Amino acid sequence: MSQLQIKNLFKQYGNNTVVNDLSIDVESGEMLSLLGPSGCGKTTTLRMIAGMQTPTSGSILLDNRDLTYVPPHQRYVGLVFQNYALFPHLNVYDNVAFGLRRHGVPKSEIRQRVVAALQSVQLSDYTERFPAQMSGGQQQRVALARTLVLKPPLVLFDEPLSNLDAKLRQALGIEIRMLQKEYGFTGIFVTHDQDEAMVLSDRIAVMRQGQIIQIGTPQQIYTQPADPFVADFVGESNLLPVSNVTVEKGRWRTELANGQILRAEKSAATAPPTFAMVRPEGVQILPLGTQAKPVQGDEWHNCLHGTVSFIHYAGSSYLMGVTLEGIEKHFMVRIQDSQREFGLRVGDEAILQWDISRTLTF
Ligand SMILES: Nc1ncnc2c1ncn2[C@@H]1O[C@H](COP(=O)(O)OP(=O)(O)OP(=O)(O)O)[C@@H](O)[C@H]1O
Ligand SMILES: [Mg+2]
Repeated sequence: MSQLQIKNLFKQYGNNTVVNDLSIDVESGEMLSLLGPSGCGKTTTLRMIAGMQTPTSGSILLDNRDLTYVPPHQRYVGLVFQNYALFPHLNVYDNVAFGLRRHGVPKSEIRQRVVAALQSVQLSDYTERFPAQMSGGQQQRVALARTLVLKPPLVLFDEPLSNLDAKLRQALGIEIRMLQKEYGFTGIFVTHDQDEAMVLSDRIAVMRQGQIIQIGTPQQIYTQPADPFVADFVGESNLLPVSNVTVEKGRWRTELANGQILRAEKSAATAPPTFAMVRPEGVQILPLGTQAKPVQGDEWHNCLHGTVSFIHYAGSSYLMGVTLEGIEKHFMVRIQDSQREFGLRVGDEAILQWDISRTLTF
């Protein structure tokens, strides 16, 4: 296991700064995801760590060894990419053995290591197959085995699951986590899929325009997003612009564009917010006039009034859209099956209610 330090990394193409003062410490044995929209600089960052791209400035250290200008083959960094890039003319065994042979590992040891690696990825019975005779998921497992057989201290993954179907992505994602425990490498996992990042990572670094906006555990990123961009990018959110902000009984009192009031907890020294946010699963929806709890002037809840605009069945839950007067975006509410007994239908007026403490502000 190894510790990676990236310090003030920059990459410029002409006037275009695609990686902009990026610094991260990745702990030994940790899996860190780089999560961000297309074009934000994830692959470029990974390629600089691998040595396939030279930084404009900054440094990259692995276990305190400066790698910044070390050629790729002397870095001992493993790579797993979206396209499996297996040798088409070699069978599975030879694909996995290739790197060991190149490193001059003795034949008997090669056999033992290749067999063990193929066993870890559940491909023991496929040694004679050629890449063209395998599914995408199987080929990606070969690519994993080919990388892990070299026992690299650091493995870089660039969207390795994005060519696979949803079910297989999940299965292989879990497998990668188990392989990490087994082989003990430090990992960086690039993705623009937030679910993948959540499942796979010890920590997530959310990137935008070449910069890290927030870094933290999946729980921290989800429950305490640093800004509206992170709140919106990671998970579903109801992000509402607010104005006329005042302080009332130690809390923020804000107004939506339609004049409805939202309250939020106020931490010590923050400036008045411009956005309020609540997650769809944190909101209760009740038919107008039948609310179980007192809603008017309630000390503990936020209440909004709107009209149900759609109800989508999503397997384990329902996603409801609610139109608030004078606000363009649908307000989203996620409810469990059991709550359907309220009998709400599209077009019904409803009350949205949630704990003030669940309201985040930015
Ligand atoms: N060789 C290059 N020359 C000029 N610009 C480049 C080069 N490589 C990448 N870029 C630009 O750098 C930016 C970041 O690209 P990068 O491939 O790192 O994005 P990414 O976050 O991996 O996106 P995606 O999720 O689509 O893979 C993009 O705007 C891209 O056009
Ligand atoms: Mg990319």
